[in-house]
Amino acid sequence: MSERKEIKIDKAELDRQKEIMLRLKENNSMEYQKNGKHKRYFVITLGCQQNVSDSEKIMGMLDEMGYEKTEEREEADVVVINTCCVRENAELKLFGNIGAFKQLKIDNPGLLLCVCGCMMEQEHAVATIKKKYKHVDLVFGTHNLYRFPELIERSMNEKYTLIDIMNTEGFIVEDIPVRREDKFKAWVTIMYGCNNFCSYCIVPHVRGRERSRLPEDIVSEIKQLAADGCKEITLLGQNVNSYGKDLKLEMDFADLIKIVNEIEGVERIRFMTSHPKDISDKLIQTMSECKKVCEQLHLPFQAGSNKVLKAMNRKYTKEEYLEKIEKVKRVLPGVALSTDVIVGFPGETDEDFEETLDVISKVEFDQSFMFIYSKRSGTPAAEMENQINEEQKHRNFERLKKLQADVSKKVNDDYLNRIVEVLVEGPSKNDASKFTGRSRTGKVVNFSGQGELIGQLVNVRITEVFSWFLNGEMEA
Ligand code: SAH
Ligand code: SF4
Ligand code: F3S
Repeated sequence: MSERKEIKIDKAELDRQKEIMLRLKENNSMEYQKNGKHKRYFVITLGCQQNVSDSEKIMGMLDEMGYEKTEEREEADVVVINTCCVRENAELKLFGNIGAFKQLKIDNPGLLLCVCGCMMEQEHAVATIKKKYKHVDLVFGTHNLYRFPELIERSMNEKYTLIDIMNTEGFIVEDIPVRREDKFKAWVTIMYGCNNFCSYCIVPHVRGRERSRLPEDIVSEIKQLAADGCKEITLLGQNVNSYGKDLKLEMDFADLIKIVNEIEGVERIRFMTSHPKDISDKLIQTMSECKKVCEQLHLPFQAGSNKVLKAMNRKYTKEEYLEKIEKVKRVLPGVALSTDVIVGFPGETDEDFEETLDVISKVEFDQSFMFIYSKRSGTPAAEMENQINEEQKHRNFERLKKLQADVSKKVNDDYLNRIVEVLVEGPSKNDASKFTGRSRTGKVVNFSGQGELIGQLVNVRITEVFSWFLNGEMEA
């Protein structure tokens, strides 16, 4: 057994939350017997995979409390908005959403409106809600998610907005119920928080320092998933390469992958996100040795100019990044590469931006997630004087988008006539007579096929390629 050095949540505290869930479940079932209607919940998730994963826990707890999920916000008795604050537009989206619920609260005064997640870890956001959005019933943060049952129960009897933001962040809570939307693939968080403090980024400020889950907890979750029929596991963390560093363990992320690779029933392993400064030769080697690890790597480079990278506090140069990519391509032939890029970081000139385009052309990423720099108060970059004007940011953003679309098409052209393994997810969105799924390299593949294929791994010959997806025919 491995040891954790920091505070653990008391088991008694968790048992107390379980009791509350049970009590609410009984209340809800009594109400159902009275009026024949189930109480329902509606959850809006505005952030990244970590946020999605938290929403799965919120839904898991609501299920345990006897609520039913609805896709219609008008039907809901409990609404949870799980916020993000990584860029400004995420904030704007939130206030639009909260505003829209005002009328629904008037129509249904019993409706509980809850707002949680990363943005609620910022004092100014909570203050805005307190002042301007008094129809919100409950506000909580990222560190006290496990206390949701108690908070829901308390807020039912509160006249004013109940606010519960916890400052302690040094623990991990296991055994929170989870509702997974997908049977065949699952995200498994292996660590929380981030220690990197890139100068533009709010995440370390709202998610706290790196905390790794114990390997035995991760493995038992994955074994359970596999027993339930799950085939694809994505190991999740802001910087998975630092897994285990905060624990007194003799193992690192590569060792964790080796263990997961041995779990029966798991067919595919992915992970994200890796930081270029931490990706080790051992990890690259492990990826090539472990058959279940997919030929795919998400490695954000953010910017091509060394001056900008330094100001971003990324701790690598363009040359070092390109060298790592070369190594990855050498050891993992056919690997699909994706990245995150920021356009318009303070001080980024057009010449600096050319370096970003140069990285895109040299690496030939399958996919880039592109963002216009957004000022986050509380981060060092927000204080920098050389902020870039909107016109330049947008102009360069358009150039980047165009280049990446061309590169993606070129990369996908190589797939023509190739046979790829696809994990079938369901009917295709555009054509219900076809199936859709993903290749090991993460490509969306639409294909015609017959039978009960959902959840199966099938071979598909690619007949048509586009920038963002592939079409094909199932092989006999
Ligand atoms: N931990 C992950 C993901 C962080 S957030 C990582 O380091 O890769 C996802 C992406 O949002 C980042 O990679 C970055 O490209 C972008 N991002 C973060 N802060 C931003 C900001 N202030 N403005 C614009 N994009 C930002
Ligand atoms: Fe943000 Fe950097 Fe941490 Fe990623 S590594 S979450 S970009 S601070
Ligand atoms: Fe994710 Fe947004 Fe929080 S990107 S970690 S939900 S600030």
